Amino acid sequence: MSNDEMKKAVAEKAVNEYVKDGMTVGLGTGSTAYYAIKRLGERVKEEGLKIECTATSVRSEELAKEFGLVVLDVDDVDHIDVTIDGADEVDPNMQLIKGLGGALIREKIVAAASEREVIIVDETKLVDVLGTKCPLPVEVLKFGHKKTKFALELQGCEAKLRTVDQQPFVTDNGNYIYDCKFDSIQNPFFLESRINVIPGTVDNGLFLNTATTVLVSHKDGTITKMGE
Ligand code: 5RP
Repeated sequence: MSNDEMKKAVAEKAVNEYVKDGMTVGLGTGSTAYYAIKRLGERVKEEGLKIECTATSVRSEELAKEFGLVVLDVDDVDHIDVTIDGADEVDPNMQLIKGLGGALIREKIVAAASEREVIIVDETKLVDVLGTKCPLPVEVLKFGHKKTKFALELQGCEAKLRTVDQQPFVTDNGNYIYDCKFDSIQNPFFLESRINVIPGTVDNGLFLNTATTVLVSHKDGTITKMGE
């Protein structure tokens, strides 16, 4: 299976198995979440499912509307039954790095408000230790961002301002992102507590004890499950 086929397969399985009529569904962001949003739109059309959604990015909201889904602001839903989202790294304890797609803050808020957080990944996202493949994205205020970068690097990483077309990438919240490359993140809980007290830091891409389920798509066509 190609990477894209793996993403599609795992996204469709998550939507088919975890979304039921009447639910409020959190929509993730990224190329794997894309297939979940698309499948949700198909189920609404084909089965007449009555579901409401809330999105983790402007991009996902637009996509969901294109696929015919009803999208509400997160503050206008009382309860989110399930959120289906991708990840950049998953360790054996289901701890995650997210945010290479730039939506980490909204993803974290929606995840925290969700009864169930289903993470959908292909096997290339599995790591023994977080930080070994990907940088850790950290969203920071524009004001004083070079000072924030300096403080981030004191935590033992190389912090690079994310850019698009040679301009700083700006998140849906109007902030910048520093991609912080560590050799590895041996104690993610400690690192999270260190990063989040740096003035100017809004939040970071460590999603610790957030996933309730991780579905992993493999090249041989199988899908395995971690969690409930
Ligand atoms: C966006 C994210 C994405 O879930 C993560 O980057 C995975 O994306 P993809 O499915 O495209 O690999 O955290 O902020």
